[in-house]
Amino acid sequence: MKSTAPIGVFDSGVGGLSVYQAIRHALPAEDIIYVADSGNAPYGDRTPGFIEDRAVAMTEFLVASGVKAVVVACNTATVIAVERLRRQFSLPIIALEPAIKPAIESTKSGVVGVLATRRTLESPAVERLCREYGARARVILQPCPGLVESVELCEMDSPATADLIQHYVAPLIAAGADTLVLGCTHYAYLARQIQALVGPNITILDSSAAVARQVVRRVEMTERLPFGGRSAHAQFFTTAASTRQASAVMSLLLGQTVEVLHAESDCPGITDRRQGQKQDLSCP
Ligand code: DGL
Repeated sequence: MKSTAPIGVFDSGVGGLSVYQAIRHALPAEDIIYVADSGNAPYGDRTPGFIEDRAVAMTEFLVASGVKAVVVACNTATVIAVERLRRQFSLPIIALEPAIKPAIESTKSGVVGVLATRRTLESPAVERLCREYGARARVILQPCPGLVESVELCEMDSPATADLIQHYVAPLIAAGADTLVLGCTHYAYLARQIQALVGPNITILDSSAAVARQVVRRVEMTERLPFGGRSAHAQFFTTAASTRQASAVMSLLLGQTVEVLHAESDCPGITDRRQGQKQDLSCP
């Protein structure tokens, strides 16, 4: 695989942009292709078979786009589909898991709250993390239906979203949690609102920096592109019906205007249409 090939990133929707931003920050010279499966979000309450099929479709889309590695920027897709993806595809598949281990290592109160989708929290991967590290702290698992939708609609500051956050988070704080794990990439875009609710003494952890470090390690195994003299490109795709709406939402989350194209995930032969659509993006 040529080292100048882009890195592919996918999520059930726009939440994985938080991972994209961490990768962009760590690897300013790398081209990145991001695809949001917003037409099928949220994954959290879907069947495992559906999530696995969508993860394969998103990976096929990125592979057909010529990426050198795929980052699964979705906890739910990771816990359900990462093994299948690694079996089926020969390129590096980099995935993430909720930051339960670092949370347990850093809690002082001995109580950790984990916010994630139901699928993620019921997965063997989370069960294993709790089994391996849970003896050192009490881990409270809190599914948060509705929060992915809030971010997909860019309603992070709406009263309804504030009510949901209060409903999910307040019992964790009342139970003594001093550390909250954001086990869904969408929730990174609610971190400010959650922090405002719980106050500065509660630590909020997500996995985006850890994933970016893994991506750096994998990219260095091929060849890391030198920064300077080269401007990185990024391309954004969505399976949502409205690319206009997707462009508005993604631009708002990224803090810079981006154009989003339609990804026909069942029809990977879209490379031609994509040519000439690259966008120069500076580091956030
Ligand atoms: N961003 C996805 C995750 O990290 C959200 C899953 C969903 O769509 O429910 O789990």
